[in-house]
Amino acid sequence: MTDLFSEIARLKREMNAVILAHYYQEPDIQDIADVIGDSLALAQAAAKTDASAIVFCGVHFMAETAKILNPDKLVLLPDLAAGCSLSDSCPAPEFEAFVKAHPGHAVITYINSSAAVKALSDVICTSSNAERIVRRIPADQPILFAPDQHLGRYVTKQTGREMVLWPGSCSVHVTFSERRLIRLKAEHPDALVLAHPECEERVLRLADHVGSTTSILTFATSNPATRFIVATEAGIIHQMKKACPDKEFIPAPPDSGCSCNECPYMRLNTLEKVYLCMRDRRPEITLPEELRVRCLAPLERMLEMSA
Ligand code: 13P
Ligand code: SF4
Repeated sequence: MTDLFSEIARLKREMNAVILAHYYQEPDIQDIADVIGDSLALAQAAAKTDASAIVFCGVHFMAETAKILNPDKLVLLPDLAAGCSLSDSCPAPEFEAFVKAHPGHAVITYINSSAAVKALSDVICTSSNAERIVRRIPADQPILFAPDQHLGRYVTKQTGREMVLWPGSCSVHVTFSERRLIRLKAEHPDALVLAHPECEERVLRLADHVGSTTSILTFATSNPATRFIVATEAGIIHQMKKACPDKEFIPAPPDSGCSCNECPYMRLNTLEKVYLCMRDRRPEITLPEELRVRCLAPLERMLEMSA
């Protein structure tokens, strides 16, 4: 039987590859990654790597971002079907019409979007820098924010800046139940609630800390509390437990008894598919050069603003 761990390590050396993984990947994948991070950290890692190949253990828009930044490198995604409900909630033709209907607006687009949508944008953001980027837009310029309405609403609350919002959302983060979270808090009055800003406002209102995956992880590890309720994709709990084995992390309950707090797209990637994509050098991310160049400018603007 193939030892996937040693085969992946061998292929990594042979290919001069770097393995980038998001916190929502299954634990085995997180454990073999060279870099684990949130969307911003992974984009920054992709921007500065000198590896010849990038194995992106995340979803399509993340690997596509890596390709936009690295046209000459081989960028692999273990499962090409690893999409994103939020990105899918914003089709480029409709978004183009929306942008045209709002002339003069600065278009800030969340990185969870297709290349075609990024190409229609002025600047890209992630959950960790959205607030900072919105604050950088001149006060007299109206803003159009897409595609996540919940992140947009949260940033408006933080900055006082009204924005036109595209009505998109993430199918995973909107499943957390306010009612069940209130009950869980009552059962564990000492627990702090950590939430990703893609959650609905009624869930964010119950949170002690709202932030990107990295921000949530940092808060959980540095805060003296010993029990946390985690309202984001459950994969992040692997890193929390590794960093703080004595603390307790309770996944926030979804609306039904399902395991819908696991992103079905992220979870398409498996250790075996990581091995196979490296062995076969596919599926590879490609995109037309003309489109890549149009996405690069708003993406580089984000990286400059986040440095
Ligand atoms: P982060 O930017 O916090 O990593 O979030 C990415 C994501 O897809 C959340 O669902
Ligand atoms: Fe997309 Fe939601 Fe999955 Fe994040 S958790 S990748 S926003 S579907």
